[in-house]
Amino acid sequence: MKILVTGGAGFIGSHTVVELVHAGFEPIIVDNFSNSDLSIVGKIQEITGRKISFYQIDCKLDDHLEPIFLENPEIEGVIHFAAYKAVGESVSEPEKYYHNNIASLTCVCRMMKKYGVNKFVFSSSCTVYGNPEVIPVNEKAPIKEALNPYAHTKQLAEEILFGLCQYNQDLEVVILRYFNPIGAHESGLIGELPIGVPNNLVPYITQTAAGWRDSLVVFGKDYSTADGTCIRDFIHVEDLAKAHLKALMWKNPESNLEVFNIGSGVGHSVQSLIDIFINETGIDFPVKYGERRPGDIPAIFASAEKALGLLNWKTERTLEEALRHAWNWQQTLEKTE
Ligand code: WQD
Repeated sequence: MKILVTGGAGFIGSHTVVELVHAGFEPIIVDNFSNSDLSIVGKIQEITGRKISFYQIDCKLDDHLEPIFLENPEIEGVIHFAAYKAVGESVSEPEKYYHNNIASLTCVCRMMKKYGVNKFVFSSSCTVYGNPEVIPVNEKAPIKEALNPYAHTKQLAEEILFGLCQYNQDLEVVILRYFNPIGAHESGLIGELPIGVPNNLVPYITQTAAGWRDSLVVFGKDYSTADGTCIRDFIHVEDLAKAHLKALMWKNPESNLEVFNIGSGVGHSVQSLIDIFINETGIDFPVKYGERRPGDIPAIFASAEKALGLLNWKTERTLEEALRHAWNWQQTLEKTE
């Protein structure tokens, strides 16, 4: 079965492509390499031992995307990762985010309709919950005012999918709301490739441990949590990748759209992650405690019961493994800027 994977050379997309091949699917990567690298396709081929078809295109452009559907009439499903995802950049360049993230979604959905492809798995984010009143947060939690344009594009995308599913009963959509993906493939051949200074915690930790950064700044140690640092639900990217397979293969008896939280169900603080990394790798590194980062919420972690009950999915990897794999991956990288 051919599966179109938009953004398939990206962090989560590439790990999902590996799992698709292992499960016997034939993934087709489309990616404009705006936040990834052509070399990742070769690494996926090295891990899987299989040739992976890929197209360097921008999936918000009809004349880029339509030929892929024409050349691959056997496409039976789409996993849509392609989107910009840097929260800070979304605040400074909202127009770029609204255009790219929404236009790529609607272009893919129009081509699916035109070519009779109905199975769609969408990469969403726990950020749609904003700052939840109740944690762990479940899928019935209210969608609150977005904290940034990136989060708002995910909320808007979900609303578009709700609407499409209401008017097109043939469409089968699964929305996966990711919590905090971390780590890298156990082979050390693929992982997170942040461009420039990382926004996210774990790549900043590994780059500091590698001596690329002078110190990690913990954004706030005065939150009302046990150790004063924020709490998040960190999950191994390989577990997250496997969730997409479950979503793709799931037959939904109830409706043509379902939403799942993809998290471990356990919250860990920023400080605890630092401690686990140092303990796991034996690598210490300078840590400073600075001001809170605007837009951060004190704590969020998932109720993961629905994904377990309906998709039979739960995290299997430990945080220790995720941080060790992240460090293995970091050690393969050359400092660029
Ligand atoms: C985690 C914690 C920071 C860096 C974002 C997006 C979310 C998803 C994951 C796409 C926070 C602290 C971080 C640093 C720090 N992305 N931190 N020093 O903000 O929970 O989620 O990325 O889907 O949608 O919103 O992740 O890794 O940026 O931050 O102290 O140098 O680590 O303050 O408490 P976040 P993060």
